[in-house]
Amino acid sequence: MNTNIVVAIDGYSSCGKSTIAKAIAKELHFIYVDSGAMYRAVALYFLRNNIDLSNEKQVAEALKNIHLNFNSRDYETHITLNDEEVSEEIRQMPVSEKVSTVAAIHAVRVEMVKQQQRMGKSKNIVMDGRDIGTAVFPDAQVKFFMTADPKIRAERRHKELLPKNPEITLEEVFENLAHRDYQDTTRKESPLVRADDAIILDNTDLTQKEQLLFALSRIEPFLNQ
Ligand code: DC
Repeated sequence: MNTNIVVAIDGYSSCGKSTIAKAIAKELHFIYVDSGAMYRAVALYFLRNNIDLSNEKQVAEALKNIHLNFNSRDYETHITLNDEEVSEEIRQMPVSEKVSTVAAIHAVRVEMVKQQQRMGKSKNIVMDGRDIGTAVFPDAQVKFFMTADPKIRAERRHKELLPKNPEITLEEVFENLAHRDYQDTTRKESPLVRADDAIILDNTDLTQKEQLLFALSRIEPFLNQ
């Protein structure tokens, strides 16, 4: 009997997880789910509504009012927050600065993980994040753990942000990434760790094509099983 295939991609911020995840999804016609976008959209809602993150009741109430949806018209991330497309706004600095704190809140994680598990129930999916291979889909057929040199990561991210944030410096981006790595790996709730059975993919010196071919070679044995 055919079961659906889940490819879990975890790793540090700005390591190219979403680039490879999208490429895999496109090649194999899988659904791509950017789990980080969900935490970002929650952070945006909390920011806009001045939610006090230390107030559990306020956080729980706010979570009830948040409705997230992915529109999968192509292999890009199109996420709506209560029917408003927020895909661009969630990439801006105010959200980037807040999101790790929001993602460390227990109630937020419980809700996001529930929604993510639902998405992977019956369809072939590629999901990227921090805890996909450990907490969301511990039984995923294929798991990758991505890393890259921190300097290279900062340079890549800086280049991405510059068109919309011409004043942003490489140093600021580097600091933000270092801070997020620290928060993501040391938080109490589902910290970023490599699952024992995750394949390490260090892409410091790899082209996108090389990464894709490597990933496909690991997924192919599970296709048409
Ligand atoms: O991948 P990203 O940079 O868009 O993720 C945004 C934040 O959300 C980042 O601080 C880590 C957190 N995150 C998480 O805790 N668990 C996930 N599955 C995905 C992202």
